[in-house]
Amino acid sequence: MEKRIQTNTHIKTQSLAEKIAKKCLKTGPDFKNNIATIFAMRGDLGSGKTTFTQGFARGLGVVDKILSPTFVILKKFQIPNSEFQYLYHIDCYRIKQPREILNLGLKEIISDTKNIIVIEWADKIEKILPPQAKMIRFHFVNEKNREIFFNLKK
Ligand SMILES: Nc1ncnc2c1ncn2[C@@H]1O[C@H](COP(=O)(O)OP(=O)(O)O)[C@@H](O)[C@H]1O
Ligand SMILES: [Mg+2]
Repeated sequence: MEKRIQTNTHIKTQSLAEKIAKKCLKTGPDFKNNIATIFAMRGDLGSGKTTFTQGFARGLGVVDKILSPTFVILKKFQIPNSEFQYLYHIDCYRIKQPREILNLGLKEIISDTKNIIVIEWADKIEKILPPQAKMIRFHFVNEKNREIFFNLKK
């Protein structure tokens, strides 16, 4: 099952992400599976993944500016006043093999329940993501509109 939401401004994409982040804080860490909370995003260049991450970070109370981490594959931000501790923003655009991200310590990051991980171009490392990762797909409709699909499992 998939849920589809269409936004017609980048602000609306950010507000949507902010709401999802707040819900995530409310739900709390995944102690049952004992792993990080992961949002795996896919979608073409300009489809809104970084924009979504900006709103998501704001929803977590992260005040740092979120930029497209084009040259830095992985960025870490502190999450204030929460059971969660860090937000990791990962951009796999430049990655050719999942090994490259494993070398940056992804396994360890995933194995810590206190982490929230938001991944752009997650399809590039799909093979090494746990089944609990929440999938979000972005689709460029036209200059202003984006379709955002959420995989609803269980
Ligand atoms: N509805 C929308 N949702 C998200 N971004 C939008 C929307 N409409 C226009 N935009 C613009 O599209 C671009 C999306 O870029 P970005 O978030 O960096 O995409 P990606 O990270 O997927 O490459 C931004 O310049 C943003 O302002
Ligand atoms: Mg991006």
